[in-house]
Amino acid sequence: MFYCAGSLRQLTFRYKIAHIEQNVIFARMKKLYIETYGCQMNFADSEVVASILKDLYTLTDDVQEADLILINTCSIRDKAEQRIHKRLHELEALKKKHRTLQVGLLGCMAERMKEELLETEPILNFIAGPDAYRNLPELIAESAQGEAKFNVLLSEDETYDNIMPVRYDLNGVSAYVSIMRGCNNFCTYCVVPYTRGRERSRSPQTIMAEVDQLLQDGYKEVTLLGQNVNSYRWEEDGEVVTFAKLMEMVALKSSQLRVRFATSHPKDISDELLEVIAKYENICKYIHLPVQSGSDNMLKKMNRVYTRDYYMERVRKIKELMPDCAISTDIIAGFCGETLEDHEQTLSVMREVGYEYAYMFKYSERGGTMSAKRFQDDIPDEEKTRRLEEIIALQGELSLASNQRDVGKTFRVLVEGVSKRSADQLYGRNSQNKVIIFPKGEHQVGDYIDVTVTRCTAATLFAD
Ligand code: 5AD
Ligand code: SF4
Repeated sequence: MFYCAGSLRQLTFRYKIAHIEQNVIFARMKKLYIETYGCQMNFADSEVVASILKDLYTLTDDVQEADLILINTCSIRDKAEQRIHKRLHELEALKKKHRTLQVGLLGCMAERMKEELLETEPILNFIAGPDAYRNLPELIAESAQGEAKFNVLLSEDETYDNIMPVRYDLNGVSAYVSIMRGCNNFCTYCVVPYTRGRERSRSPQTIMAEVDQLLQDGYKEVTLLGQNVNSYRWEEDGEVVTFAKLMEMVALKSSQLRVRFATSHPKDISDELLEVIAKYENICKYIHLPVQSGSDNMLKKMNRVYTRDYYMERVRKIKELMPDCAISTDIIAGFCGETLEDHEQTLSVMREVGYEYAYMFKYSERGGTMSAKRFQDDIPDEEKTRRLEEIIALQGELSLASNQRDVGKTFRVLVEGVSKRSADQLYGRNSQNKVIIFPKGEHQVGDYIDVTVTRCTAATLFAD
C-alpha cells in the first residue's frame, strides 16, 4: 500500500462532473494529465499540484489529449527511477505529434538529479522539486517560451498549508491528509532527507479545516500522512500539539470517520500515542512499523537508532493495549555487509512479530547517502534476490496464517468499491487494513457493514 512504484492513478468521473460547468465556460481550457509514482506522500502531493493548477488546466485521464503532462517521481530505489526514464522515452512520440505539448517532472527525482535531468531527458520542459509546486504556473509559462526551466529549492517551512487538495481518487470514501513534510532521521540508506528536506509540521488549524471539508464532501476515512508522523509537533502560544493530540482531535470530529496514519518510526511510537489509538474505536487498529532488519549490527549501520529488543518491546506494548492490532513492516534485504546470520535475524524477527503484511526490498545504493559514502554495497545481486525471496516466502506464510485466524470472525468493513472479479461483489477494508470481499446485496460504496469471514487466501479475506 505504501510504495506502489509505477502505478498510475487515474482521474475520477466525480471530478469530471464537478468540472463540466467549468469546461463549458472556459471551452478552450487546457488539459492536464498527472502520473504519480511512489509513496502515498506523492499521491497527496499530486492532489496539491492539481489544486495549484486548477484555474489554468482541467484534469484529463487521457494522456493523448493532454497539453501538459506532469510525472511525479520517486527516487527511493534505482528501479523506481529506471521506470520513470522508460516512461519519459515512451512519451517522446506523443511530444513529436503535439508540438505544443509540455512535459514536467516533479518530486524526488527532480530534487536528486536537478538540472542534469534537463540535459539527459530533452523531452522535459521543466522540473520542480517537492517544495517548488507553488512556482509551477511560472515554470510552465516561462518554459513555454522555449528554454527548459527548473526549481529545486528546498524550503524549511513549506507545507502547502493553505492549499485544499483536489481529490481525484476513485472511491470518494477515503482521502490522504498530509500533516508534515520532510525527514530528519537520515537512515544511512535513504535518499528522502535529501530529496524532501527537513522535517516540518503543518498547522493543526489547516489540517482540521481539510478534515471538515472531507466530512462535508461525504468522505468516511482519512489517512494522516508524513514521512515520520510520530514526530509531528506544533507549538503556538505555549500550547503544544503532538501527533497523539492531533489524532485525538481528528478522531473526535466524527465517530463515522475512520482515522489511519502512515508512517511511524519505531523510535517515536510513544505510549501516549498507543493509548490514544486504543481509546478511540474509529482510529484503525493497524500500525505500519518499519523494522528494516532484525539484526542489531545492521540496525546500527542503518542509523535506525533502536535495537531489536527495543523494537520488540514496542510490539509487545501494542499487543498488550490492542490485542487485535495488525502490524505491517518494511524490510531491506542485502544491506551493506549483511551476513547470513544478520539475514537469519531478520527472518526470526518476522516470525516473532508475526506481521500481517510487509513491504520487502533489495537494498539499492543511492548516490549521496551515508551508506553510499561509507559502506560497500557488497552483497551480490543474486544473493540479495535469494534473501529477498526467502523473506517474501516467509511473509506469505505469516500473512496466510494471520488471515486463517480471522476465518469465522466478524468485522466492520467500510465499503470502498466493486470487486474487480465480479460486479456482484464489493470490497472494503476492516480496521486492521485487510481487504474483505463480500456479496453486494443492498450495500453501497461508503457504507459501514458487518461481515463474517468464511475463507481466505494470503492476500484477501472473503465473507458472506
Ligand atoms: N534501498 C532499498 N530500500 C529502501 N528503502 C528506503 N531506501 C531504500 C534503499 N536505498 C525502503 C525502506 C523504507 C521504504 C519506504 O523504502 O524500507 O522504509
Ligand atoms: Fe528514509 Fe529513514 Fe526518513 Fe524513513 S525515516 S524517510 S527510511 S530517512
